[in-house]
Amino acid sequence: MGSNKKKKTLLNPQAMPRHIAIIMDGNGRWAKRRGLTRSMGHREGSRVLKKIVEECYNLGIRYLTVFAFSCENWSRPQEEVDQLLKLMMDYLKNSENELKGKPVRIRVIGDRAGLPDEMVSEIQRVEKNTAHIEGLDLVIAINYGGRQDILNACRTLADDYKNDRITESGITIESFASRLWTAGIPEPDLLIRTSGEIRFSNFLLWQCAYSELYFTDILWPDFRKKHLHDAIVHYQGRERRYGGL
Ligand code: FPP
Repeated sequence: MGSNKKKKTLLNPQAMPRHIAIIMDGNGRWAKRRGLTRSMGHREGSRVLKKIVEECYNLGIRYLTVFAFSCENWSRPQEEVDQLLKLMMDYLKNSENELKGKPVRIRVIGDRAGLPDEMVSEIQRVEKNTAHIEGLDLVIAINYGGRQDILNACRTLADDYKNDRITESGITIESFASRLWTAGIPEPDLLIRTSGEIRFSNFLLWQCAYSELYFTDILWPDFRKKHLHDAIVHYQGRERRYGGL
């Protein structure tokens, strides 16, 4: 404080978050400031995602979950929705080639019933082809909503209860979590949201109960490795108590 010297961000490799979740916000504003279409902002956002995936891999992060398309995003203009769907399809189709040498397993969370058939097939293909990979798990949230995730788990649980697959006392935090779309994926240690908005916007509501939150004014297309490092350094400076002392 009181010094103009730039603080050097030193990452502690021994205390890396296991799971980082990102709300990649600000593509539209980034494009508007440049007189570009919103879709061009998303395209740039997609490029940035590739770089950040690579960096997470290099840093030894085990899970990265990104919010690509929410259940509420269908209400955007059709042209923008189409472009987002196309970008996600391209990403899924090209991911194996582009991430050559970087073992990345791809998983998709969200309501698949609402997605076009060809996208569901592509998701199944890429998930199957990368299922054996142990490196970074990239979890892409597509047609995802935290409330929808919880509701869906409730319905599954009700069905299991009705059909004697679970008893009332068997309903626990763990058995509930195992019915969420994120089953088997540990909860995020760090949630990053770009573009200055300070809210969850229906992302991983159950899963982020104890996550450290990091908000930055940087718009997603301007997000670089150094901003990721800043977020991790912030995380490493926090003391996580999980409700204890
Ligand atoms: C929010 O910015 C961003 C989105 C709704 C989409 C995020 C998608 C990508 C980064 C690229 C596509 C994803 C993949 C997996 C290839 P916004 O449009 O709400 O920005 P604004 O708040 O500035 O309008």
